[in-house]
Parts: sequence; structure tokens; C-alpha cells
Amino acid sequence: MSNLTTSIQLTKQSKYKLNNGQYIPVAGYGVYLCSAEKTRQLVYQALKDGYRHIDSAVYYGNEKEAAQGIQEFLKDHKDVQRKDIFFTTKITNEAHGYDNCKKQIEEIAKDVKEHIDYVDLVLIHSPKTDKERRLGAWKALQEYVQNPNNGTLIIKSIGVSNYGIAHLEELFNWDGYLVKPVVNQLELHPWLPRLKLREYMVKHDILAEAYSPLTQGYKLNDPELLALEKSSGISKIEILLKWSYLQGYIVLAKTEKLERIAQNFNVLPDGQRDEELDETKSFGKVDLPLDVLEALDKPDSHEVLTWGNVDPTEYKDGDN
Ligand SMILES: NC(=O)c1ccc[n+]([C@@H]2O[C@H](COP(=O)([O-])OP(=O)(O)OC[C@H]3O[C@@H](n4cnc5c(N)ncnc54)[C@H](OP(=O)(O)O)[C@@H]3O)[C@@H](O)[C@H]2O)c1
Repeated sequence: MSNLTTSIQLTKQSKYKLNNGQYIPVAGYGVYLCSAEKTRQLVYQALKDGYRHIDSAVYYGNEKEAAQGIQEFLKDHKDVQRKDIFFTTKITNEAHGYDNCKKQIEEIAKDVKEHIDYVDLVLIHSPKTDKERRLGAWKALQEYVQNPNNGTLIIKSIGVSNYGIAHLEELFNWDGYLVKPVVNQLELHPWLPRLKLREYMVKHDILAEAYSPLTQGYKLNDPELLALEKSSGISKIEILLKWSYLQGYIVLAKTEKLERIAQNFNVLPDGQRDEELDETKSFGKVDLPLDVLEALDKPDSHEVLTWGNVDPTEYKDGDN
């Protein structure tokens, strides 16, 4: 059995410190599969309900609308500033390679700069091309964070997504390697705990962002989860989101139902505002009963529910 953490100091306002000194809010609202027309309204609502972290991607086709939602919210809420909100986007596989990456960053700039000035985090969405192109993209991204005043787009931090240990090692061993990824965004939930990869990331000071923490809905009727909901009196949504926070993840949940946005965010307790809190300074805690955590402790489980059920972290150059 793994070491189970039953309680963690965390609130709605908590942020984790990234390895480059920037701060990232622990609760993120993701806009995967949100139609462009709806994204603006959803992002506005997420910010109104208290989220301060929005996760988008070029692939989602709704970055511009997500940025517009942030801009509108800031216009209507003068007590919140741009620096209080964290915006992430991700480059597609087509943008792997040095020149392609620069081209896509220019396109991102066209979509978002007039609305939100800068991007907090750009991720390589997946490792699924080849070594040369992955490293070429990283070379370009490194240049953006190192020369934020180059005129194209200010990018504060860079990271990866769906990278396995081999992809991270490839980066660390490359002779052009200068900037460490701040996060690795991964499918993570009780059925996919990825213990080895997590341990490796902790060793290298790379935070884990958990996507599909609600299993994209696939496990919401799992008999074991339903039994836990019944025995503990805690809703299955709260159980899954709290499980994720208790692992120390930055948790990215998504819903297109306006009323569920607050429900998901309110899993975290209220805390203090207007302070750069890190996890050691926040007041309020997230906890789950030990028997619930024991039931969800599946160290050997490896159920990939997204990406066509083929684990992108295990991608080898030449695979489909
Ligand atoms: N880097 C990557 O490769 C990658 C891949 C996938 C996702 N992501 C990021 O992670 C975010 C979240 O992941 P995800 O969208 O895959 O899955 P998720 O958040 O695990 O699950 C979303 C599903 O759960 C349902 N849901 C949400 N809140 C609910 C609630 N309170 N009660 C009942 N059902 C609820 C949603 O339905 P309704 O909409 O009907 O509420 C939707 O079907 C994405 O939006 C994206 O930003 C990244």
C-alpha cells in the first residue's frame, strides 16, 4: 500500500510555487471540447465562481474565446487584475520543430494578446512526433521565456504534457537544454496513479497537473465509487477531486454545465484572498476518510481512459 495522505492544507486561493519562482493556482478550469461560442461564457462564469486558472490549448479551438472571457471578467471586476489569473495554452503536434513552433506562437499571439497581454504557461501538448521535433519546439519555447521582450508574445513559463520518463530524460540529456519544464500535465486519477512517473517528477521538481480528474465521466458509475459515496456520505465528484488534491496535484476539472462549475470549485474550502499563498501558508484543509483513500489506493492500476486508451506517456518515435 502507498503512503496515504488523509489531509492537506489547501484552500480555494492556494497556489503552488513552480520551479521558476512563479505561482500557479491549484484549481484549474479546463475548456477541452467546449464549443468556441460557449467558451467565453463558461470562462467568465468560472472566474465569477472563483477559479483563477484556465486551461486551454490550440487543439481545442477556443483559446481566443477563453482569453475574451478573461478580458470581459476583468473589465467587470476591477478588484481582480490580470496577474491574479493564470492562463495556459498548449501547442499542437504540428507545431513541433523550431520553425513550426515559432509560427504557432505567432498565431496564438494573434488570438490572445489583445485580450490578455501575455500567456502564463505554454505546454507541448504531447510527445507524439519525434526527438528532433520535440527538442526543436523546446528550443523555441526556451527562447520565448528567456527573451520575453522579443515582441511576439510574453510567455512566463513553459512545460510539457503527456511526457513519460523517457521524453523527460531526452530533454534533460539534450545539449541545448536550458529551461526546466515547470509542469507535466497528465491523465491522473485513482485508476491511473502513475507512481513511477510521479516519483521521477518529484525528484526533478516538476509539478503534476491532473487532467481528467473526473475520469472524463467514464468511472462516475463505477460500483466501487458508488458504494464509497453511499458509505461515506461524500459525493463521488467530491471524492475524486479531493483524491486528486490530496496527491498534491494541480487539478484541472471541466464541465459545460454552468451550475457544476461552482460545485466543482467549492470542493476546496474558503481561504484568504489577496495573498500569494503557497501550500504551507494557506488556512483550511482538504481531507478524506482513510477508508475511502484505502479503497481508491490502486498503485498497480493503469487504466488509460483518454487518448484512445493508448498511453501517450509510453509513446516511442515511430508509433502511431
Ligand atoms: N493535456 C491533455 O492531453 C489533456 C487531455 C484531456 C483533458 N485535458 C485538460 O483537463 C481538463 C479536464 O479534463 P477532461 O475534460 O478530460 O475530464 P474531466 O474533468 O475528468 O471530466 C469531464 C466530464 O465530467 C463531467 N462532470 C464535470 N463536473 C461534474 C459534476 N459536478 N457532476 C457530474 N459530472 C461532472 C462533465 O460533464 P458536463 O460537462 O456535462 O458537466 C464531463 O463529461 C480539460 O478540460 C483540459 O483542459 C488535457
